[in-house]
Amino acid sequence: MDEEVADLFEAAETAMESAHVPYSEYPVGAALETADGEVFVGCNVENANYSNSLHAEEVAVGEAVKRGHTAFSRLAVVSAARDGVTPCGMCRQTLAEFCAESLPVFCLDGETVVEYSLGELLPAAISEETLSDSR
Ligand code: THU
Ligand code: ZN
Repeated sequence: MDEEVADLFEAAETAMESAHVPYSEYPVGAALETADGEVFVGCNVENANYSNSLHAEEVAVGEAVKRGHTAFSRLAVVSAARDGVTPCGMCRQTLAEFCAESLPVFCLDGETVVEYSLGELLPAAISEETLSDSR
C-alpha cells in the first residue's frame, strides 16, 4: 500500500475506535486530507432514534469546515469489518459540496485498497451551479 494512503487509513482506523454504534455494531472511520496536507477524521455516532445518526464522513467534513478548510485532496474510509465500505449516497453529496469529482476516495477491502473518484461514486451531483442555473 502507498505509504501516504496507509497513513490516511491509520488515521481513519484510530478515529473508528471512538465510534458510537450500539445499534448497528458497525464502526466506520473516515480521514479527510485537506489541500494543504492536514487530516481531519470522523467516526459514526448513532442515536437511539436511529434516523439521526451521524456518518463518519459527515463528521470529518464538519471537523474540517469548522476550522476553515474547504479544499480537499483525498479521503479514506474504513469499517471495522474491512468490507470495502464506500461512502453512502448522503455522504457522497456532502463531499460533493466541497470536493471536485476527481477527489480520490480510498476504501479498504481486507488488505486491498480500492480507489474510486468522487465523480465515479456520484455523477451529476447537485451543486451551487445547478441551483443558480434555475434562479
Ligand atoms: N455509515 C457511515 O458512517 N458512513 C457511511 O457512509 C456508510 C454508513 C454508518 C452509519 C451507521 O452508523 C452504520 O454505518 C451502518 O449503516
Ligand atoms: Zn454516509
